[in-house]
Amino acid sequence: MSIRVNDLNQPELIDFNRVGSSTLGYISIAENLPFEIKRVYWTYYAPHEVIRGHHAHKELTQIIFAVSGSIKFELENIQGLKKSFILDRPEMGLFIPKLHWRTMEFSHNAVLLCLSSEQYDENDYIRDYDEFISLSDQ
Ligand code: TYD
Repeated sequence: MSIRVNDLNQPELIDFNRVGSSTLGYISIAENLPFEIKRVYWTYYAPHEVIRGHHAHKELTQIIFAVSGSIKFELENIQGLKKSFILDRPEMGLFIPKLHWRTMEFSHNAVLLCLSSEQYDENDYIRDYDEFISLSDQ
Protein backbone atom coordinates (compact mmCIF):
# COMPACT_ATOMS: atom_id res chain seq x y z
CA MET A 1 0.00 0.00 0.00
CA SER A 2 1.22 3.53 -0.76
CA ILE A 3 0.99 6.27 1.81
CA ARG A 4 -0.44 9.49 0.44
CA VAL A 5 0.42 12.90 1.87
CA ASN A 6 -1.86 15.73 0.74
CA ASP A 7 0.75 18.49 0.90
CA LEU A 8 4.46 17.80 1.43
CA ASN A 9 4.80 21.20 3.16
CA GLN A 10 2.05 20.63 5.76
CA PRO A 11 2.01 18.39 8.83
CA GLU A 12 -0.70 15.76 8.62
CA LEU A 13 -2.02 12.76 10.51
CA ILE A 14 -1.95 9.63 8.36
CA ASP A 15 -3.99 6.53 9.09
CA PHE A 16 -1.76 3.52 8.30
CA ASN A 17 -4.73 1.21 8.86
CA ARG A 18 -4.42 -2.12 10.57
CA VAL A 19 -4.65 -5.74 9.64
CA GLY A 20 -6.03 -8.26 12.10
CA SER A 21 -8.77 -8.53 14.65
CA SER A 22 -9.48 -7.84 18.29
CA THR A 23 -9.08 -11.55 19.01
CA LEU A 24 -5.68 -11.97 17.24
CA GLY A 25 -4.21 -8.48 17.48
CA TYR A 26 -3.13 -6.13 14.71
CA ILE A 27 -0.31 -5.25 12.30
CA SER A 28 0.21 -1.83 10.73
CA ILE A 29 2.55 -1.43 7.77
CA ALA A 30 4.66 1.49 6.54
CA GLU A 31 5.73 1.01 2.90
CA ASN A 32 5.96 3.22 -0.20
CA LEU A 33 6.42 6.33 1.87
CA PRO A 34 6.88 9.82 0.33
CA PHE A 35 10.59 9.62 1.25
CA GLU A 36 13.27 6.96 1.54
CA ILE A 37 13.85 5.91 5.16
CA LYS A 38 17.47 6.50 6.10
CA ARG A 39 17.10 6.24 9.87
CA VAL A 40 14.71 4.84 12.45
CA TYR A 41 14.86 5.85 16.10
CA TRP A 42 12.63 5.49 19.11
CA THR A 43 12.23 7.56 22.26
CA TYR A 44 10.84 6.23 25.54
CA TYR A 45 10.75 6.65 29.34
CA ALA A 46 10.26 10.40 28.83
CA PRO A 47 8.72 11.72 32.08
CA HIS A 48 5.27 13.18 31.55
CA GLU A 49 6.27 16.56 33.01
CA VAL A 50 9.14 16.99 30.53
CA ILE A 51 8.62 18.82 27.25
CA ARG A 52 10.93 17.43 24.56
CA GLY A 53 11.78 18.79 21.14
CA HIS A 54 12.25 22.56 21.03
CA HIS A 55 13.81 22.40 17.61
CA ALA A 56 13.15 22.34 13.87
CA HIS A 57 15.00 20.67 11.01
CA LYS A 58 16.38 22.32 7.89
CA GLU A 59 15.85 19.32 5.59
CA LEU A 60 14.66 16.34 7.61
CA THR A 61 11.19 14.92 6.94
CA GLN A 62 9.70 12.46 9.40
CA ILE A 63 6.75 10.21 10.08
CA ILE A 64 6.27 9.66 13.79
CA PHE A 65 4.17 7.07 15.64
CA ALA A 66 3.20 6.58 19.26
CA VAL A 67 3.51 2.79 19.14
CA SER A 68 2.55 2.80 22.81
CA GLY A 69 0.82 5.42 24.97
CA SER A 70 0.08 8.91 23.70
CA ILE A 71 2.18 11.87 22.60
CA LYS A 72 0.99 15.44 22.18
CA PHE A 73 2.71 17.51 19.49
CA GLU A 74 2.72 21.27 19.03
CA LEU A 75 4.05 22.23 15.59
CA GLU A 76 4.76 25.65 14.14
CA ASN A 77 5.90 26.61 10.66
CA ILE A 78 8.14 29.57 9.82
CA GLN A 79 5.08 31.73 9.09
CA GLY A 80 4.01 31.21 12.72
CA LEU A 81 1.09 28.89 11.91
CA LYS A 82 0.61 26.54 14.89
CA LYS A 83 -1.05 23.12 14.83
CA SER A 84 -1.57 20.56 17.61
CA PHE A 85 -1.78 16.82 17.15
CA ILE A 86 -2.29 13.93 19.52
CA LEU A 87 -0.94 10.51 18.62
CA ASP A 88 -2.81 7.97 20.72
CA ARG A 89 -3.35 5.04 18.38
CA PRO A 90 -0.47 2.87 17.09
CA GLU A 91 -1.77 2.94 13.50
CA MET A 92 -1.69 6.75 13.27
CA GLY A 93 1.44 8.45 11.91
CA LEU A 94 2.24 12.16 12.02
CA PHE A 95 3.95 13.48 8.89
CA ILE A 96 6.24 16.38 9.81
CA PRO A 97 7.82 18.31 6.92
CA LYS A 98 11.08 20.17 7.22
CA LEU A 99 11.11 23.60 8.92
CA HIS A 100 8.56 22.86 11.65
CA TRP A 101 9.35 23.81 15.25
CA ARG A 102 8.07 21.03 17.51
CA THR A 103 7.49 20.30 21.16
CA MET A 104 6.27 16.94 22.47
CA GLU A 105 4.71 15.74 25.73
CA PHE A 106 4.70 12.02 26.45
CA SER A 107 2.28 9.96 28.52
CA HIS A 108 4.14 7.86 31.09
CA ASN A 109 4.05 4.73 28.89
CA ALA A 110 4.65 6.40 25.51
CA VAL A 111 7.11 5.05 22.95
CA LEU A 112 7.79 7.33 19.98
CA LEU A 113 8.93 5.65 16.78
CA CYS A 114 10.32 7.89 14.07
CA LEU A 115 10.92 7.10 10.38
CA SER A 116 13.38 9.71 9.06
CA SER A 117 14.40 10.84 5.60
CA GLU A 118 18.01 11.55 6.68
CA GLN A 119 20.70 10.16 8.88
CA TYR A 120 21.45 12.02 12.09
CA ASP A 121 23.15 15.36 11.49
CA GLU A 122 23.29 17.93 14.28
CA ASN A 123 23.89 20.62 11.60
CA ASP A 124 20.36 19.95 10.31
CA TYR A 125 18.88 21.10 13.64
CA ILE A 126 17.68 24.63 14.38
CA ARG A 127 17.62 24.75 18.18
CA ASP A 128 17.25 28.52 18.57
CA TYR A 129 13.62 29.65 18.32
CA ASP A 130 14.52 33.23 17.33
CA GLU A 131 16.72 31.89 14.54
CA PHE A 132 13.82 29.69 13.39
CA ILE A 133 11.32 32.56 13.35
CA SER A 134 13.80 34.83 11.54
CA LEU A 135 13.75 32.40 8.58
CA SER A 136 10.40 33.92 7.56
CA ASP A 137 12.28 37.15 6.67
CA GLN A 138 14.48 35.37 4.12
P1 TYD B 1 16.68 15.37 20.03
O1 TYD B 1 16.40 15.12 18.58
O2 TYD B 1 16.99 16.79 20.45
O3 TYD B 1 15.51 14.80 20.94
P2 TYD B 1 13.99 15.30 21.17
O4 TYD B 1 13.54 15.99 19.92
O5 TYD B 1 13.22 14.05 21.48
O6 TYD B 1 13.98 16.22 22.35
O7 TYD B 1 17.90 14.43 20.45
C1 TYD B 1 18.28 14.28 21.80
C2 TYD B 1 19.75 13.88 21.86
O8 TYD B 1 19.93 12.64 21.18
C3 TYD B 1 20.67 14.90 21.17
O9 TYD B 1 21.85 15.04 21.97
C4 TYD B 1 21.04 14.27 19.87
C5 TYD B 1 20.91 12.78 20.15
N1 TYD B 1 20.47 12.03 18.95
C6 TYD B 1 21.39 11.29 18.24
O10 TYD B 1 22.59 11.22 18.58
N2 TYD B 1 20.97 10.61 17.12
C7 TYD B 1 19.69 10.64 16.72
O11 TYD B 1 19.33 9.99 15.68
C8 TYD B 1 18.74 11.43 17.46
C9 TYD B 1 17.30 11.50 17.05
C10 TYD B 1 19.18 12.10 18.57
